[in-house]
Amino acid sequence: MARILTGIQSTGNPHLGNLFGVIFPSIELANSKEGSFFFIADLHSLTHIKDPKILKKFTYKVASVWLSCGLDSGSDRVALYRQSDVPEVTELAWYLTCFYPYQRLKLTHSFKDKLSYLDDVNTGLFTYPLLMASDILLSDAEKIPLGRDQLQHIEITREIAKRFNREMGDIFILPEPIVNEWFIPGLDGKKMSKSRGNVIDIFLSDMELQRQVMTIKTDNSHLHATKNTDRDIVYYLYKLLASKKKVYEMKDSYLEGDYGYFQAKEALYSLLLDSFSIEREKFAFFIQNPFVVEKILAKGALKASKAAKITIDRIRKALGFGDMAEFGLN
Ligand code: TRP
Repeated sequence: MARILTGIQSTGNPHLGNLFGVIFPSIELANSKEGSFFFIADLHSLTHIKDPKILKKFTYKVASVWLSCGLDSGSDRVALYRQSDVPEVTELAWYLTCFYPYQRLKLTHSFKDKLSYLDDVNTGLFTYPLLMASDILLSDAEKIPLGRDQLQHIEITREIAKRFNREMGDIFILPEPIVNEWFIPGLDGKKMSKSRGNVIDIFLSDMELQRQVMTIKTDNSHLHATKNTDRDIVYYLYKLLASKKKVYEMKDSYLEGDYGYFQAKEALYSLLLDSFSIEREKFAFFIQNPFVVEKILAKGALKASKAAKITIDRIRKALGFGDMAEFGLN
């Protein structure tokens, strides 16, 4: 086993794709003796969110989702924390900027992508991958669960670590990504993603969740017609969660006809409520009791800071920012 780390931005509730892609697999790996670090990337969120109340609210929501999905925050091996509670992360990010060529950072896909559709193209969006590299390298993490769209950021992290190690000695561990290959389609059938606005958020109220499920795109075949399960998003999502028996039943209904998409969506909605009843209940508790979440985050920050101090001392020393005594100058 290895030390694992992952972060999620506080730009809204994590959606069903995040749960299957990152949160559930990470929680499963969380109890390794090397420790696990899970954080809310609120510094990264500042590239988008400039309203302090919203930033704070989303931070609690993301933390509540982790806790609701079963993260054992009471374990000594687990730290759930806010990125902004570990200021060493911004210090290291600066050091890293001095080791990575500007011309290479310009090639980052995520930046070029955002450049094409965002109005506020701030410098934080550009240096985003270096802050992410700092998150990872600061905690000596070895395995990083994340979405496929984040792979280039891990490549950049590895490249910086190699460049740094080459010049300054063996300072950093080279991290490896863990990518979950499940395809989770969004409301429009394309990959579920926050920026595409096609998400299913299982932490919405009953009514809002139902409304969301009802907007899943379907073809316009008639109620009586036989329906094709191969291309249908409702069926695909149902299949991810339902028992084999229930999946066969829905498939039969599709093939027999006289079964409309409205009914299929109702079935999917009930299944979502059933499948995530515990998570939804816990989420409601944490949202109503932010002081409980705050306490957990404060404890997590202590653990993360302890690990950060060890690394940052090593780095300061290597760069020439350490104590005079270390250089034999006193
Ligand atoms: N960029 C990641 C995302 O948008 C969030 C993130 C920030 C992250 N720092 C990280 C993920 C470090 C893994 C490791 O999903």
